Amino acid sequence: MTRAIYPGSFDPVTKGHLDIIIRTSKIMSHLTVTVMDNPRKVATYDIEKRVEMLKLVIEPYKNVEVDYYKGLLIDYAQQKKIGIIVKGLRAISDFEFEFQMALVNQKLNPAIETLFMMTNSKYSYLSSSIVKEIAALGGNVSSLVPPEVHDMIISKFKLD
Ligand code: PNS
Repeated sequence: MTRAIYPGSFDPVTKGHLDIIIRTSKIMSHLTVTVMDNPRKVATYDIEKRVEMLKLVIEPYKNVEVDYYKGLLIDYAQQKKIGIIVKGLRAISDFEFEFQMALVNQKLNPAIETLFMMTNSKYSYLSSSIVKEIAALGGNVSSLVPPEVHDMIISKFKLD
């Protein structure tokens, strides 16, 4: 049984994340998508909302579950007894930081491997920050986010 964790802030989940989830779920027996806080960013959606959105999106994929954790990724992997961390890689700009994180995590626990899944070129430009910027300025994000969570995402930016 090959189990993996796909961690991220998912603030909010995009079609790029979903693409990584679907492709990873095909090569792993089980995938845990784990919502975590990125200490370098202030989250827009609270952790419960991010989990709720992911649960809607992963519903058709029976070997995928959603979880959340507050703390170090490597401690979480250890607690869950999962030996593989999957990260999505978009452009060269992602690489330097992801490489550093993978090496830090390797230092903290060499038994846990980080695997990188290349983005689908369709989504190489896409990020949660881009989605929020467009939505905040009243643009259309329907081609960028899974339809199940579109209204939840834009409701954050709607003025009553
Ligand atoms: O989607 P993101 O924002 O790129 O995800 C980054 C995330 C949440 C995976 C990363 O910030 C993380 O692993 N946070 C938990 C704290 C941790 O373990 N940091 C690595 C050691 S420096």
